[in-house]
Amino acid sequence: LDRARVPSPPGLPVVGHLHQIARAGLIGYLLRISRDFPAGIFKLKFGSRVGLFVTNPDLVEELCDETRFRKMPGPGLRVVRKFAGDGLFTAFSEEPNWGKAHRILLPAFSQRAMRGYYDMMLEVADQLVGKWSRLSGTDVLVADDMTRFTLDSIAIAGFGHRFASFEREELDSFLEALARVLGESLNMITRLPIQQRFAKKAERQYDADIDEMNALVDGIIAERRAHPNDGKDLLNLMISAVDPETGEGLDDINIRYQVLTFLIAGHETTSGLLTFSQHLLLRHPHVLAQAYAEVDRVLPGDKRLDYSDVAKLEVIERILKEGLRLWPTAPAFTLAPFEDEVIGGTWHLRKDRPVNVFAPGLHRDPSVWTDPDEFDIDRWLPEAEAARHPHAYKPFGNGERACIGRQFAMVEAKMALAMILQKFAISDPHSYTLRIKETLSIKPDEFYMRVRLRQPHE
Ligand code: HEM
Repeated sequence: LDRARVPSPPGLPVVGHLHQIARAGLIGYLLRISRDFPAGIFKLKFGSRVGLFVTNPDLVEELCDETRFRKMPGPGLRVVRKFAGDGLFTAFSEEPNWGKAHRILLPAFSQRAMRGYYDMMLEVADQLVGKWSRLSGTDVLVADDMTRFTLDSIAIAGFGHRFASFEREELDSFLEALARVLGESLNMITRLPIQQRFAKKAERQYDADIDEMNALVDGIIAERRAHPNDGKDLLNLMISAVDPETGEGLDDINIRYQVLTFLIAGHETTSGLLTFSQHLLLRHPHVLAQAYAEVDRVLPGDKRLDYSDVAKLEVIERILKEGLRLWPTAPAFTLAPFEDEVIGGTWHLRKDRPVNVFAPGLHRDPSVWTDPDEFDIDRWLPEAEAARHPHAYKPFGNGERACIGRQFAMVEAKMALAMILQKFAISDPHSYTLRIKETLSIKPDEFYMRVRLRQPHE
């Protein structure tokens, strides 16, 4: 009963596959390896640690059976637990605080709650469009402005906190601390123990960055406690709601973990999605033209985007879904069996040992997706979607541990893309070649796009 038979690419003694990963980046490397192992299961050696990866939809279907498997934070998330503790994202499913926080916070993600956040999101989207209007005719660094938009949205909607990111040249120092912390978290899992011993300076910076993020979070909580209101946002639920099952509220340490969790999980992946989507649109002018046609139909002239309009953005929605297929911005999630298991009738998995679902590989599995590397939004026409393997697409994870913020993310991403296209002609004068920036999520690196205000006849 072991993993010996799971195939593995050739590696080096001691370091295993780390040297190849260092060269290609983790995602690039995993994507390449996924192609070399069409059975959709392979293992890699990270120094002395073995990572098991699955990309085949039938195997993923078994892993997504919640009677046999549950989420098991892998090495990446275990590092993140240093600052996010047993917050919703990084909690082990068995930890009581997961269920408690899940039940307390779920109402903040209902349809009604989305409507409540809508005007706040729109205000931030207006600031994005306003900034780009002033910059018309120049190049913008897409990822940074998408980050300003998504961070400010979750902070105002969830916590009543204004970052006012569009009023400043520099990104908020919280974001810089966060970027370093996430980058360092990835380094920690791809470094050898011997290298880790020489990374003392990085470790000190890491601790200082965590202190800085906590100071911001503590300020947000203290501000609300000093000036309570009777809104139903995330922060009020965290501070005062009780779990219907246990009758208990969240403790202060856990509230801190949850606020930080939502500030991070609530912006990082959505900004990546928006950035990839704009890159993909520029590479596919016929799809861009379809998007403009839809936006001009739903938002003629200067019409404001109302909540009821969001559901009409059907082309935009397909663009985002296809963007998340090719570049799922939370690229992996990790499960482990409750008991020793066999999947696919052959592969033995040991109780409690983590298995990674590698979404970019799953989303390009050639047995499901024809021309898997092609950006084709017609894959998301209802008939095509209905005929597809139900476990071939997992950008938001699985089951009870799936993304709690997915509707929030989709509303926000549709809003931003629609409002950008309503106002701007976008182009790529530098013929950007995609380079992926990896922290624990992924983003296009250094992607500049030209924006110009559209003329009335355009
Ligand atoms: C969980 C992806 C946006 C909050 C997850 C998971 C994935 C994911 C894959 C499961 C992780 C795992 O199993 O380890 C995404 C993507 C997003 C997005 C691709 C945007 C395109 C958001 C937003 C929020 C959010 C906007 C908050 C407003 C969370 C939280 C969890 C989670 C709190 C943990 C849920 C739990 O375990 O109870 N997300 N997410 N996410 N996401 Fe998202």
